[in-house]
Amino acid sequence: MATNRSLLQTQTLFRITFYFSSSFLMGNRFSKKSHDTIIEEATSEDKENIQSDIQIEMENSTDDDIMHFIQTAEEREHGQHYLLKHVVQANHFAPIENALKIEGSRALDIGCGSSGVWILDMAADFTNTTFYGIDIIDSFIPQGEKHSFAPTNCHFQTQDVIHGIPFPDNTFDYIHQRFMYMVYPSSMTGWGIKEMKRVMKPGATIELIEYDLRPRQPGPLFTKLFSAVNCALYKINKSGFRGEILGEILKRGDFNDITTDYWSLPICWGGEVGKTMYISVLGVCVWLGSKVYDQLDLQGDNLEESYDRFLDKAFDECVEYQTYFNLHWAYGTKPTV
Ligand SMILES: C[S@@+](CC[C@H](N)C(=O)[O-])C[C@H]1O[C@@H](n2cnc3c(N)ncnc32)[C@H](O)[C@@H]1O
Repeated sequence: MATNRSLLQTQTLFRITFYFSSSFLMGNRFSKKSHDTIIEEATSEDKENIQSDIQIEMENSTDDDIMHFIQTAEEREHGQHYLLKHVVQANHFAPIENALKIEGSRALDIGCGSSGVWILDMAADFTNTTFYGIDIIDSFIPQGEKHSFAPTNCHFQTQDVIHGIPFPDNTFDYIHQRFMYMVYPSSMTGWGIKEMKRVMKPGATIELIEYDLRPRQPGPLFTKLFSAVNCALYKINKSGFRGEILGEILKRGDFNDITTDYWSLPICWGGEVGKTMYISVLGVCVWLGSKVYDQLDLQGDNLEESYDRFLDKAFDECVEYQTYFNLHWAYGTKPTV
């Protein structure tokens, strides 16, 4: 796979000035759909399917595969974290500074990742708050020698979120969940949001951050690629928390003061931002691998090589067409009564 595209080699970091951004309040007109109905939508089959994905992948992998997976996952997480921090000039969108300055505040990051990079960064900024991270992959959790530099106000715990959030009711002042679109099936978003609400204190803030997987201004091959990607994700029942519906998810969960917004981020063009986006999106395409072959009419004896060539051409198109993705976020508060 060509990871050294010429267009990416000479680029230097610069501030992008052409992002489009729009902001609108979703208002307080909440759905009347009952929580019980939402929870019923998550069948035990959904839970079985989703919880086994990563475990099966890990069980079928060699130690070298797992180490490579960990390293590349960490690289992508760091890339995306610092990309956002550079673009937004902050680690969060919700106005939670005052709440997190209060001694004894608690914050939770759901799916904190292999490196816990967001927590480590936030914990250094907000020393009066204790940060908790949960993730399904225990070997990644920052404990022991590797992460002995972690601030003392950080705690990490292994947990499959599909089994619930392992904390009592009304524990947290702030919940953050980012890039978990391939974790929950769509039938479980209502259940997931109810579980998050349960562990939030009244008046606490929730923040969700996700891409939508609809490339804007794509070329013909990139269009075909993303049609196949979305089809594959649909088939394996992923992408519950899609960027474009985050506000709606909070609205259905009966949160207050819901705000949504988005940034547009270039892929393969636009300096380091485009390069980081390329690495992340390529990671998703490579991860899906054979699940998208059928949709792409690949030719030749070696479909893996044909797929690599297809990816090269599809991503090259993004420069010509100035393709971009929208990154959405939504935040709201838990009602106090
Ligand atoms: C794309 S990464 C995002 C990491 C982090 N939130 C960030 O912004 O960098 C998705 C994370 O979800 C975790 N994950 C996947 N399935 C999970 C599950 N069922 N329960 C908890 N974490 C899960 C993965 O291990 C991975 O760390």
